[in-house]
Amino acid sequence: MLRVVVCVSGGGTNLQAIIDGIAQGAVFHTEIVRVVSNNPGARALERAKAAGIESVCVSPKDYGDREQFETALIRCVEEAGPDLIVLAGFMVKVPAELIQKYKNRIVNVHPSLIPAFCGTGYYGLRVHEEALKRGVKITGATVHFVDEGMDTGPIIMQKAVKVHEDDTPETLQRRVMEEAEWVLLPWCINLIAAGQVIVEDGRVTVTE
Ligand code: GAR
Repeated sequence: MLRVVVCVSGGGTNLQAIIDGIAQGAVFHTEIVRVVSNNPGARALERAKAAGIESVCVSPKDYGDREQFETALIRCVEEAGPDLIVLAGFMVKVPAELIQKYKNRIVNVHPSLIPAFCGTGYYGLRVHEEALKRGVKITGATVHFVDEGMDTGPIIMQKAVKVHEDDTPETLQRRVMEEAEWVLLPWCINLIAAGQVIVEDGRVTVTE
């Protein structure tokens, strides 16, 4: 069993896609052992509870400074004993200590085709606003391993999504989620659980 900790901040639709993937038998040998949120109001926490998954909130507001928050966050993740950490709409920069300890064992879903519309300041709806502003005709989502940079780690999988003429950031976000994110993230977790994802020289190969 692959023990997964899912880190969330908001709606939790990607978390839901993983929960559903496991329940429907599309994601094998995987157990979500804990959901961690930095935001006490995250809808994702309710989704975790509804699925009977332990959920914990570690809010920066409850700590005196960034270092104390990061220490608490690291402890909260580590005490669940994860094999894999999944960032599913987690809007916190992951502490460097965690990235070093879990090299190629932290994955993130990003709502664009990296290296487009990624890096500092590109998260959530902002990504789609910028894509529409630039007038791209194709966008999509990326699942990648997390390294010390911002959205710079090895890419596991990407899926393209068409931009429509009349798209708003909200309609585009929704289509990217439905057509790409909710498909890719459970799929990648399943491949990782099956031991089919190999990282060499910063590049990912998926074996048969
Ligand atoms: C998703 O679109 C995810 O790709 C994005 O936030 C949203 C969270 O939605 N993540 C980032 O922008 C990370 N840079 P959810 O809470 O409903 O899964």
